Amino acid sequence: MNTFNTHFKGRDVEQQVQGQATRDGDGVKLTRVLTQAHQKRLDPFLMLDNFGSNDPKDYGGGFPDHPHRGFETITYMIAGRMRHKDSAGHEGLLQNGGVQWMTAGRGVVHSEMPEQEDGVMEGFQLWLNLPSRDKMCKPAYQDIPSENIPEFSTQEGVKVRVIAGQSNGILGAVQRPVDAFPTDALYLDIHFENEASFQQTLSVQHNAFLFVYRGSINVVSHAQETPVALHRMAILHNEGDGVEIRASAGSKVLLIAGQALNEPIAQYGPFVMNTRDELIQAVDDFRAGLYNS
Ligand code: CO
Repeated sequence: MNTFNTHFKGRDVEQQVQGQATRDGDGVKLTRVLTQAHQKRLDPFLMLDNFGSNDPKDYGGGFPDHPHRGFETITYMIAGRMRHKDSAGHEGLLQNGGVQWMTAGRGVVHSEMPEQEDGVMEGFQLWLNLPSRDKMCKPAYQDIPSENIPEFSTQEGVKVRVIAGQSNGILGAVQRPVDAFPTDALYLDIHFENEASFQQTLSVQHNAFLFVYRGSINVVSHAQETPVALHRMAILHNEGDGVEIRASAGSKVLLIAGQALNEPIAQYGPFVMNTRDELIQAVDDFRAGLYNS
């Protein structure tokens, strides 16, 4: 596939962010890359965590039963196996290269537990907001095994896994009508198999960021070239035709973009609503056992 356009005006990097080391669930070591401080700028995205360790002490406890309401969680497993179960009886095994896309809506209580006692566990969890009108929708799940994620390779040697949205005419695994899902999310995992450049068109209305998880990259705009180091998130300016990335062989980067909802964001832990009153209701309903019913 020849995808290179010499007239392309790439977005500039607006800000680079170093993730914060933390633990969540039952002591799972992770790096929180997208934090509450970026929720407004990166609307509709609420959080990005990167977990990765070959020491079972860092992941063995997993994420025992916990609730969510008001948004979607998208877990992308790079290596390892995690079993997902919820109190409504849904169950799935997420492994190497697979995605679980959960729409928590009005509420789920679930667990995400490692199904391995050694070896590497690596992956990402992204939180995507739901519009106010859908926060109390019925919960839904999509378990997408790795082989069902569309991929393509460019002539230059860039392999792109299209989890959601579309890239160079290839439709992603998750396709949803924009009127039903106005966040219109794009989620790409881009692997540079050679030293190469890659361009992705983006709408100026879509807020976008990159996260480098192998090697390092350069973001090429009309004005300059900005290096982005390993484990850095780069928030992109909205102006331009999209993003152009140049990287050496072995580099891997996530590119995530979506249409802002421009609604108030109220978060209390795993509940994300629009107002404080709705958060109080979310906690009350959880305590009353009303989730997954
Ligand atoms: Co969860």
